Amino acid sequence: MQDLQHKIAAHEADINAFSPSNAAELEAYRIQYLGTKGIVKEIFGAMKDVPGPQKKEAGQLLNAFKMLAEARYEAFAHLQNDNKSTEAKIDFSLPGTSIPTGTRHPLRVVENKIVSIFEKLGFSVATGPEVEDDWHNFTSLNMPENHTARDMQDTFYVASNPDWVLRTHTSSVQARMLEKGELPLRVICPGRVYRNETISARAHCFFHQCEGLYIDKGVSFADLKQTLFHFVSEMFGPDTKLRFRQSYFPFTEPSAEMDISCTVCGGSGCNLCKHTGWVEILGCGMVHPNMLRNFGIDPEVYSGFAFGMGVERITQIKYQVNDLRLYSQNDVRFLKQFEAIE
Ligand code: PHE
Repeated sequence: MQDLQHKIAAHEADINAFSPSNAAELEAYRIQYLGTKGIVKEIFGAMKDVPGPQKKEAGQLLNAFKMLAEARYEAFAHLQNDNKSTEAKIDFSLPGTSIPTGTRHPLRVVENKIVSIFEKLGFSVATGPEVEDDWHNFTSLNMPENHTARDMQDTFYVASNPDWVLRTHTSSVQARMLEKGELPLRVICPGRVYRNETISARAHCFFHQCEGLYIDKGVSFADLKQTLFHFVSEMFGPDTKLRFRQSYFPFTEPSAEMDISCTVCGGSGCNLCKHTGWVEILGCGMVHPNMLRNFGIDPEVYSGFAFGMGVERITQIKYQVNDLRLYSQNDVRFLKQFEAIE
């Protein structure tokens, strides 16, 4: 019995001194004292050697010892819990939170496509200011003051200075390129333009254009046709037919509007082509001699062609978007539909 008392006293001192700083130390303690082969079990085993009359007292001693060992363990149980709770917070097997990717705007995708088709033909990209002066937007393009053609484009004027406008077409960039006087010139001018129109499914107060200009010696209408033929074939497929209709623009002579066979019905008639089988995609023509003269270029030596198209229109035909407002409403349901296009 005395033996047992000594043993317990020695362990009690150890238990009281035990002060783990982490879960591993606590676990080692548990195994050492409370485990199936631990000290508490072992000492309990000594009960059988205690003579009968002393069994009660020994039992009490042992129980007190067991409770002490357990209490010490419980006192530090938070160490184990802490560990467990961090483990619970980080579950490495969980799939990551996905970050939704954005999509490129369909107009940008189509603009890039238009530009890259012309770049491969040797056109370089030129850009210019959206707030333009009268000279670059109108006068230099053979539209002097009071020219009736100015009414073709409902212009936004800068209130404080009517000499300044929001450009109505990117022909103003062509003017700026001609001004530089470097010939031959082959440029494609993408950009946003503004017209004072009531916003509806078919009209908007701003839209996007890509205009092209090619000036060199001996450029002919046949070059214009072949260039646009190539563009249509790249953009809408080689089976697409095209036709030119005589038209009027102040800065080109002769002028034409170009139609392509309807890409939706193939020419048999549908809503897109208004049952004509043809859809108009751009205006074009041979650069007017007056315009060349405005930039000091001799029209007897140089000639050139120009064309201009609306990016919204090309996108509408290619992807059957039938409301212009969709382009600027930033509705994710609309934009998401263009995820897969390049
Ligand atoms: N600038 C014209 C427009 O905005 C388009 C065009 C460009 C027509 C070049 C002919 C030649 O309507």
